[in-house]
Amino acid sequence: MKRGKMIYEGKAKKVYETDDPDLYIQEFKDDATAFDATKRGTIAGKGVVNNKISSSLFTLLEKKGIPTHFVKLLSEREMLVKRLEIIKAEVTIRNIVAGGMAKMLGLEEGIVLKEPVLEYHFKEDKLHDPLINEYHLRALGYATAGELDYVRDASFKINSILKEFFNGVGIDLVDFKLEFGRHKGKVLLGDEISPDTCRFWEKGTGRKLDKDRFRRDLGNIEEAYQEMLSRIVR
Ligand code: TMP
Repeated sequence: MKRGKMIYEGKAKKVYETDDPDLYIQEFKDDATAFDATKRGTIAGKGVVNNKISSSLFTLLEKKGIPTHFVKLLSEREMLVKRLEIIKAEVTIRNIVAGGMAKMLGLEEGIVLKEPVLEYHFKEDKLHDPLINEYHLRALGYATAGELDYVRDASFKINSILKEFFNGVGIDLVDFKLEFGRHKGKVLLGDEISPDTCRFWEKGTGRKLDKDRFRRDLGNIEEAYQEMLSRIVR
């Protein structure tokens, strides 16, 4: 598959056209940002790790009946994906209180939720990705009721699949962020699933094995990403 024009450069990835109008190439960078890109850095090898972890988790989800944009791995940093028209909402699922939820509600991190919490955030860095709900998305025409029914059901299903998987490798899946998009009239899971977009706590110790090591200057960032790769891809 030949790489064509770069059509988008985000904070952690670049997207290229291919000779097939339905397919894009997604390339993972080592660049890391936090707090709406006010903090910037590089995590050596992150792009390679996130490409492999995302490919592996998309493959797992596909096997369990969740359609994703993933087609195949192309190289260390590139995957072939289906072209999506992205829905402008980040879907966050939380199993344990941390990060934004702890801050918003003045809670301690680590409280195990009685049931998973689903949040939508409007995807707009300059507004700091504000919390919105399904009414905003429908009323403003960002998604239809049918699409949101699908996104909600799929997100909870993805949570069950991933929670079970990570339980098996000694990790508590604290929370994670998903993005969905439309492809030929169907809604597919897009973007990535990686230590950039999830919180992973080691069972028993609570050791953080995700991007919070960068956000909070905890050190051993590269090691944490490599450790997650070796736990996920065996
Ligand atoms: P939050 O607690 O900061 O809202 O983050 C919830 C989850 O979403 C966490 O696993 C990290 C992920 N996340 C992203 O993938 N992108 C973002 O821009 C933010 C703020 C969080």
